[in-house]
Amino acid sequence: MSSPGPFEFATAGRVIVGAGRAAELPATLAGLGSRALVCTGSRPARHAGLIDGMGVPAAVFPVTGEPSVDVARSATGAARKHGADLVLAIGGGSVIDLGKAVAMLLGNGGDPLDYIELVGRGQPITRPSIPYVAVPTTAGTGAEVTANSVLAVPEHRLKASLRSPLMLPRVALVDPALTLDCPPAVTASSGLDALTQCLEPFVSVRANPLTDALAREGLARAAAGLRRAFVDGSDTDARTQMSVCSLLGGMCLANAKLGAVHGFAGPVGGTVDAPHGAVCAALLVPVVAANVAALRARAPDSPALFRYAVAARLLTGRHDAAIEDGIAWLRETVAMLAVPGLGAYGVRAEHADDLVAKAERASSMQGNPIVLSAGELHSILAAAR
Ligand SMILES: NC(=O)c1ccc[n+]([C@@H]2O[C@H](COP(=O)([O-])OP(=O)(O)OC[C@H]3O[C@@H](n4cnc5c(N)ncnc54)[C@H](O)[C@@H]3O)[C@@H](O)[C@H]2O)c1
Repeated sequence: MSSPGPFEFATAGRVIVGAGRAAELPATLAGLGSRALVCTGSRPARHAGLIDGMGVPAAVFPVTGEPSVDVARSATGAARKHGADLVLAIGGGSVIDLGKAVAMLLGNGGDPLDYIELVGRGQPITRPSIPYVAVPTTAGTGAEVTANSVLAVPEHRLKASLRSPLMLPRVALVDPALTLDCPPAVTASSGLDALTQCLEPFVSVRANPLTDALAREGLARAAAGLRRAFVDGSDTDARTQMSVCSLLGGMCLANAKLGAVHGFAGPVGGTVDAPHGAVCAALLVPVVAANVAALRARAPDSPALFRYAVAARLLTGRHDAAIEDGIAWLRETVAMLAVPGLGAYGVRAEHADDLVAKAERASSMQGNPIVLSAGELHSILAAAR
């Protein structure tokens, strides 16, 4: 084994995990602020008990769907009007990203487009976010421990990130019981996102010893929990496996980058209205198959091939599993979880040139274990439709 190059690792200031631990929210918030903006999903009543008992005056900002630059502006305006010195998000990745953007904008001033990657003015984020606590209700994005917030920029038909280590949440409070009422389609798409966020960093060119350990652990937990959580959403043990998988995936992606699945996910999500996790699920098998073929043809000594074999063993639970067995396990899981292809969300052949061009420039693509040609990217997209 060769020694690692230089690396760094950063995560949320405090990570609290366990079924029922959302009850510790008031104690967790104590001392972090005196007035809170609470970002939630479209039905804040679902979390009324938590919000009413949090112990600081709160203004609630509900969000429907994945957040855009405009939604971030509105939520930041609501936070300023309320005099918020603390942001709390209780919800899926969409809600957590919104809260993260608001906390950053309150700390730094300005507009999301001043800072956003690729299509914004690209100013550096120089000041810490105001205190921000993230409480996920899906097991998918790991956004409670990542340093970025993904926002849709409709005029560019793209989703792009605000990103800085200064945006890491102060606290990630991960209570798997909050995911128990996720419907099967959300369990499927977010769960496959979590798995992908362990697999892509594991084979990433930016992988490091810390993310390697976390990714292995996350893949084993996806193998243990994903299918079970889909079949029986009330299975707390399976939900816990997936909440931990998601958390570990977030730590991995924030410190080792991702790959072609997520390289495509931003452009696809900016072009059609499709859940992020479902986009990743549809791309997962085509990307793994294309990467393995490209590595075998052009970089047969790449450590990524060894890593795909390790992942196959972790996912199948078989010590003799080959890469093909891992791909078969992934294909079977995506089929079992009934995640449709991208065509079901309106991705058509005429989108391909634009999507491939944007994916090639995406930040996540920098982690892919091999540079894929435009032709290979077109083939992936066709297979994912
Ligand atoms: N910042 C990051 O590091 C990062 C990483 C990956 C993805 N993302 C972003 O996260 C977003 C996707 O997040 P997501 O997959 O968690 O989905 P989501 O937050 O969009 O939620 C999906 C649906 O599930 C519902 N839902 C959430 N929790 C529920 C619960 N407990 N019970 C019932 N319904 C529930 C929501 O209301 C919504 O309708 C995308 O915008 C994506 O770009 C961010």
